[in-house]
Amino acid sequence: MKKKKLAVLTGAGVSAESGISTFRDSDGLWENYRVEDVASIEGWHRNPALMLDFYNARRRELATVKPNAAHIAIAELENEYDVTVITQNVDNLHERAGSTRIIHLHGELTKVRPEDRYSDRDGFSEETVFDIGYGEIHMGDLAPDGAQLRPHIVWFGEAVPKIEQAIAAVESADIMLIVGTSLQVYPAAGLYRYAGWDTPIYIIDPKDVPVSDPRIRHIRNVATKGMEEFKKILNSK
Ligand code: OAD
Repeated sequence: MKKKKLAVLTGAGVSAESGISTFRDSDGLWENYRVEDVASIEGWHRNPALMLDFYNARRRELATVKPNAAHIAIAELENEYDVTVITQNVDNLHERAGSTRIIHLHGELTKVRPEDRYSDRDGFSEETVFDIGYGEIHMGDLAPDGAQLRPHIVWFGEAVPKIEQAIAAVESADIMLIVGTSLQVYPAAGLYRYAGWDTPIYIIDPKDVPVSDPRIRHIRNVATKGMEEFKKILNSK
């Protein structure tokens, strides 16, 4: 029998129980850093060394954490569903938990690419992106074409190249699951609107969610416990 399609949109909350700070909770990253300094293309043009330090630290942290039961539960859904994970996270915890189809909407910490020297749009081609694992990059580390290397991260002010792929996954989904995102950052926050009119949408988050839509059911819990509830719901269908 053909497997049903499940689109899973995740945000920082799915990795919180692994020990990675979210952005907007109290003591989240955006309480300790200014978004425009470390996550915008203008910040890169102003002070690239500060940005490199910030992402070097994020990579070092990633090397010390592990996928949690929620990442693993999402990966295990592949036994029964045709799953596409759409993540806003730049960590690699979904991969390490075993998920096989992952769209990284906001890029990946373990990858770098040359900065765009020819325009301020930071265009790039996928062939120039490469893996550095948990290593560091510094000013003066150059790509083969002589350009400064930069993190392969989508910053504020830049395009989100994978959004079309993500929309297609949501449009074709039979079920949508959203885990641990404040739904504040577009275009990711608007993705659920592309789900079919009769597609059930489940949101796992311990806090209130800023959306009201008859298709949505809120599982008010942390990701690990919420995934247990979600699996029970699927099994009862
Ligand atoms: P946020 O920090 O905005 O939201 C995290 C969400 O996770 C909140 O709704 C929390 O209530 C929830 N949460 C906290 N702990 C949780 C837990 N244990 N289990 C489940 N949920 C939990 O993070 P995002 O929505 O992912 O972009 O942020 C979106 C984007 O904003 C990020 O990708 C990043 C940031 O600026 C860029 O840097 C481009």
